[in-house]
Amino acid sequence: MNKWSEKARRTSFGRAGAGLAVMVLLAAMPANAQETAVYFQQNCASCHTIGGGRLTGPDLKDVTGRRDREWLKSYILNPQAKMDAGDPYALQLLDEARGVVMPIPPGITPERADYLLDLIEAESALEESQFKGVQISNEPFTAADVARGLAIFKGSRKLKNGGPACYSCHSVSGLGGLGGGNLDPERGDLTLVYERLQGRTVLSSWLMAPATPTMNSVFKAAAMESDEIHALVALFEDRAQAGKPAKSQAQLTFALLGAGGAALALMFFDFVWKGRFLAVRRPLVESEKL
Ligand code: HEC
Ligand code: HEC
Repeated sequence: MNKWSEKARRTSFGRAGAGLAVMVLLAAMPANAQETAVYFQQNCASCHTIGGGRLTGPDLKDVTGRRDREWLKSYILNPQAKMDAGDPYALQLLDEARGVVMPIPPGITPERADYLLDLIEAESALEESQFKGVQISNEPFTAADVARGLAIFKGSRKLKNGGPACYSCHSVSGLGGLGGGNLDPERGDLTLVYERLQGRTVLSSWLMAPATPTMNSVFKAAAMESDEIHALVALFEDRAQAGKPAKSQAQLTFALLGAGGAALALMFFDFVWKGRFLAVRRPLVESEKL
């Protein structure tokens, strides 16, 4: 059993059933179809369902009826290129995804893209696809969840599977000081990520298997546990409700430091200026006497 489905069995997100269904289906599939289903789970399912509604990306049910196959294939091979070429359909998708561009799938080849489209087509025809998505717990978030999320974010509470603290690369409002790392100018500040990644279900699914390059390489071998994701999403919901990205707070801190700094500088120059009469000029005067 691969790591993903092993993990899926342990989560409380109700992936257990999905994992089992995958196993049962796999037994009945030819080799490349099996491999493709596993590949889809690991590299597509965090952003796409088939028949379960949109996550970060659109629901892929019947996508082969929306666009012709060549288009879809070249899109999967390099999503950004379609955006750069100004393709109107791609730009509309981008708009609906609130500006999130699909990353190039790891290890994608034209052949694999073909298999994926076959898989999506076959799954779309089913009453209920194995990729209809995960069931995210809808227990209300508590203040304790938010506090736990913040502790995980800051690294005072270690991630169970050894992932690094978010703080080393990200900021969020309310961290104090200058607010954490800011590795990526656009994605570094996570204060509003709950809105950007469209709320609880989408953000939780996203964090289950982050598929963007840095996040993927960091968390691939150190997937977060469902209770950790629950706490982090609670934190992000709380911060998004409070508004204001940490960046503007940090900028404000800098501005205040700047204003304070300017006042200090004035006092310093004032001191030095006064000092000139006493300490600089006198020695000069004294030296003139020599
Ligand atoms: C990090 C999230 C993410 C991952 C992972 C991802 N996608 Fe996407 N996908 C998107 C988004 C967002 C869009 C909408 C276009 C855009 O904004 O780039 C999209 C669009 C698509 C479309 C066009 C949908 C339509 O309605 O026409 C297809 C097909 C697709 N993705 C297939 C895949 C496949 C196959 C994989 C796995 C190999 C995958 N995607 C992985 C986010 C993702
Ligand atoms: C080693 C640096 C690093 C660490 C540690 C890290 N991230 Fe990230 N994260 C990134 C980068 C860089 C991006 C931008 C996308 C990419 O390249 O993966 C990102 C993107 C994200 C996004 C998507 C933001 C968006 O607006 O699309 C989320 C959500 C996220 N990280 C959450 C987390 C959480 C939660 C943690 C801690 C458990 C964490 N990250 C730890 C580097 C990191």
